[in-house]
Amino acid sequence: MEKDFEYPDYFARFYDILYAHIREGKDCAFYLDEIAKATGRILEIGVGTGRCFKTALNKGADIYGVDISKPMVDQLKSTLDKKYHHRIKQLDAVNMKLNQTFDLIIAPFRVFSHVLNEKDQIRFLNTVSSHLNPGGRFIFDLFVPNPIILAYGIQNQTDFEGEYEPGKRLTRTVNSVPDIVNQLFNITMIFAWDENNTLVKKSWGFKMRFFFKYEIEYLIRLSELNLVAFYGDFDKNPLTKDSREFIMVCERKNA
Ligand SMILES: C[S@@+](CC[C@H](N)C(=O)[O-])C[C@H]1O[C@@H](n2cnc3c(N)ncnc32)[C@H](O)[C@@H]1O
Repeated sequence: MEKDFEYPDYFARFYDILYAHIREGKDCAFYLDEIAKATGRILEIGVGTGRCFKTALNKGADIYGVDISKPMVDQLKSTLDKKYHHRIKQLDAVNMKLNQTFDLIIAPFRVFSHVLNEKDQIRFLNTVSSHLNPGGRFIFDLFVPNPIILAYGIQNQTDFEGEYEPGKRLTRTVNSVPDIVNQLFNITMIFAWDENNTLVKKSWGFKMRFFFKYEIEYLIRLSELNLVAFYGDFDKNPLTKDSREFIMVCERKNA
């Protein structure tokens, strides 16, 4: 796909520290449960730094990972025993062709929000379908757009203020400007951290797509996948007007 974003190396470097603090980890528990139930090979799309992947691997799952971002892949490999490196590839899920198929494919934590246009979204879903074994499943999640953020955006919200190593400060501050017509958030993340006794400050801008329920259903219907379950949280409760997550379980059409 036309690459609409580039994760900078400092984001990959601080990712695990930030999200151990910001994200409660319920999503990983949900995906790990699905991984434990899968009988064969598993693929994580957008594997990132291996937040869920590494636990699955340690539990003995036959799991592989792809990610479009070199800094994320490098970060993951730097924490992974060399004997597992062949399981990780830097690839774009929109057009990847692996010589393996899978019983379970997952894309945890809003990977699909990085795919901004409809053509690539359908290609992504069809690529997933072509890598599924008959009877295999694809599970992914997206966030339910928060109406307050849709209306007002986010202004200078510091969501992490701590240390990344003893005595070394790190802060992250987020801005988000909604573009309702194009269903995008224009996000800026400002990082500041101590490095060699100086405060380094970097700013990174990117877009994230937001989706609504019916659009997700239509997109899946247009693809080679069928939607077989649609949950509103990681405890598998149905969608309600108060849901904060969209969690989709799909199978190949005519599987
Ligand atoms: C928010 S991170 C989630 C990482 C990991 N799954 C987790 O749960 O922590 C989204 C990841 O998706 C990757 N990604 C985005 N678009 C992708 C694509 N088209 N193909 C493969 N990976 C993609 C990004 O590089 C990033 O590592």
